[in-house]
Amino acid sequence: MADEKKVLKRIGVLTSGGDAPGMNAVIRSVVRTCAVNNIQTIGIKRGYNGLLTNDFIEMNARSVNGLTSKGGTMLYTARSKEFATPEGVQRAADNCRYMGIDGIVCIGGDGTFRGARDLSAAGVNTVAVPATIDNDISCTEYTIGFDTACNTAIDAIDKLSDTMQSHERISVVEVMGRNAGHLALYVASAVGATAVLLPEKGFDIKQDVVEKVRAGRLNGRNHFIVIVAEGVGHATEVSKRIQEETGMETRLTILGHVQRGGSPSGRDRVVATEMGHHAVEALLAGKTNIVVAYRDDELVNIDIDKALSMKKSYDAYRYRVISEIAR
Ligand code: F6P
Repeated sequence: MADEKKVLKRIGVLTSGGDAPGMNAVIRSVVRTCAVNNIQTIGIKRGYNGLLTNDFIEMNARSVNGLTSKGGTMLYTARSKEFATPEGVQRAADNCRYMGIDGIVCIGGDGTFRGARDLSAAGVNTVAVPATIDNDISCTEYTIGFDTACNTAIDAIDKLSDTMQSHERISVVEVMGRNAGHLALYVASAVGATAVLLPEKGFDIKQDVVEKVRAGRLNGRNHFIVIVAEGVGHATEVSKRIQEETGMETRLTILGHVQRGGSPSGRDRVVATEMGHHAVEALLAGKTNIVVAYRDDELVNIDIDKALSMKKSYDAYRYRVISEIAR
């Protein structure tokens, strides 16, 4: 490993796909770990687009001061259509060689991993760091940004709960997550939702929502929270149907992009800092085409091809607890 360290002169770092709170903390950690190892860091702007347009900035230990507490990503982010072609990948790899970039830390979700895999196949060493509020990456138990997004949603729903209680209404809340329900399920448990609808699981509105509302009303409850994962789609229709079937006034709130913003939580800052450090050490050890994954309380390297082929299912126990204690 000591020999490998000598050959790395310059490492690139980029953020790609949807932003997530904690991405900046990864950037800071990468830059500082590089500085400690006498490696220069190049910030690549707007994800893989920056590799095609040579949109680079030189970074150093001072340029990342105070970044741990900042939401978003200082390097900007994008989903690059041009890079997702064989010609685009080749051009990006050629630019890396021209710039003398020995390796890249690619921060983002599964689309980012595919880019890292393709770059690695084209001869550029890559290490991916999982950052997405969706927590939908199968090879890792945790993705950076999830905790902050959960807390943001929980905070908003607690506020909704106050007004729903005053008006004796049902609040239907759409929570982000793309095709996955992990964020919705976690938030539902935290806010004590009466029901949660997930894309991974079929549902019957009468049985899974209306009956639960009825049971709650019989118990003297006058307001309800129903969480609908974005991946279910049709939140407007779901909300109307709940109103028709229960006879209670219903209001739909789509939390949307507010869930992606804000200062990262302590957990996101710490995981981001350690994953960034681990990613640079992996490049120093000569690794490529890997994801830094959080498993059983430690950081491990998982081959990207393997990571992309794994499936993550929803937490059936968490779902059962919510269902059983909803009253
Ligand atoms: O992947 C993160 C995410 O916020 C998803 O939850 C959501 O479906 C998607 O990105 C939204 O993407 P955009 O910001 O491009 O609308």
